[in-house]
Amino acid sequence: MKALLLSEYKHLEIADLPDPAPARGEVLVSVAACGICGSDVHGYDGSSGRRIPPIVMGHEAAGTIAALGDGVTGFAVGDRVTFDSTIFCGACENCRRGDVNLCDHRQVLGVSCSEYRRAGAFAQYVSVPARILYRLPNALAFDEAAMLEAVSVALHGVALAQISADSTTLVVGAGMIGLLTVQALRAARCSRIFVADVDSTRLKLAQDAGATAVLFSNTELAEQVLQLTAGVGVDVAIEAVGRNETVRASIDSVRKGGTIVLVGNISPEVALPLQKVVTRQIRLQGSCASAGEYPRAIELLASGAIRVKPLISAIAPLEEGPRWFQRLYAREPNLMKVILTPEMRK
Ligand SMILES: NC(=O)c1ccc[n+]([C@@H]2O[C@H](COP(=O)([O-])OP(=O)(O)OC[C@H]3O[C@@H](n4cnc5c(N)ncnc54)[C@H](O)[C@@H]3O)[C@@H](O)[C@H]2O)c1
Ligand SMILES: [Zn+2]
Ligand SMILES: [Zn+2]
Repeated sequence: MKALLLSEYKHLEIADLPDPAPARGEVLVSVAACGICGSDVHGYDGSSGRRIPPIVMGHEAAGTIAALGDGVTGFAVGDRVTFDSTIFCGACENCRRGDVNLCDHRQVLGVSCSEYRRAGAFAQYVSVPARILYRLPNALAFDEAAMLEAVSVALHGVALAQISADSTTLVVGAGMIGLLTVQALRAARCSRIFVADVDSTRLKLAQDAGATAVLFSNTELAEQVLQLTAGVGVDVAIEAVGRNETVRASIDSVRKGGTIVLVGNISPEVALPLQKVVTRQIRLQGSCASAGEYPRAIELLASGAIRVKPLISAIAPLEEGPRWFQRLYAREPNLMKVILTPEMRK
């Protein structure tokens, strides 16, 4: 099969690799579309340590089942599917509790690190356990379905926020995750959603996605939020950047007893204004990937309640992968999601 191989850091090439054979309990998926994730771009130069070459990356994918391994039931060759980016074991204590994102044996497709190497979906075929598969409705195009992973991340963050219809919320960061979070909040019937970013193009997208107000993020972000909430602060802030100043601004922007869902993690460490968090009884809630949100994400995409088309900048054949990675790595402005199509069919 053809695959986009990271043969050394910052070097991708189209390689001929053997077709993977589905092991027991696995299915072989013919990949129709696979999105380039920010984490792939960060892994590409070795800075994250999570894409040790040689590796075929890619974990945001959709396609059709090409073959079934032994013991797979409930799926057939030709089924249109997507799959969780997380391979969970289904048997550890976390999995049994339903927290499959916290699986003790968690592997991510298209990642190679010191613990494991798992070939991903920038290839004509990928083999994945049937337990992580989800069937796609015919009306949902493969390129849009490749966005389901990011949609699930947004839904998970919103689920952990425990918002209600009258909640006032702040989304910090209007990147891919922030913009999908805005739509997930709307789908949860949240009526007041403020969105902050440093990039006015992103803020325009946030407005189109249904933000009540967009705020230019600067040192006065919390003051702007307080002004909009009669000095009280928002009930919930969803932090989708992950930097010192944005975590700080989120803490300064929530009301007493409010919640901050921490999704962003660009910086591995930030300073915590402990006294403020304790005395204002603020809940800091981490959010990792998703756990059971795929079916709802599929529903919301299929019904049009969440729209991902405006977030897709380009759909390109797998062969153009090296060039698109370079453009993303160079941080070309206004590029959102780029989707590669190894075997694109309608
Ligand atoms: N927890 C998870 O499961 C999970 C999943 C996916 C991504 N992430 C993390 O979420 C974060 C966002 O991911 P993304 O794919 O949306 O990235 P992105 O690059 O598309 O978006 C980041 C956004 O933050 C904005 N930003 C930068 N500095 C800012 C500031 N000071 N104030 C306000 N906005 C600012 C940027 O302009 C950009 O729009 C990243 O840290 C990523 O690693 C977490
Ligand atoms: Zn990803
Ligand atoms: Zn497990």
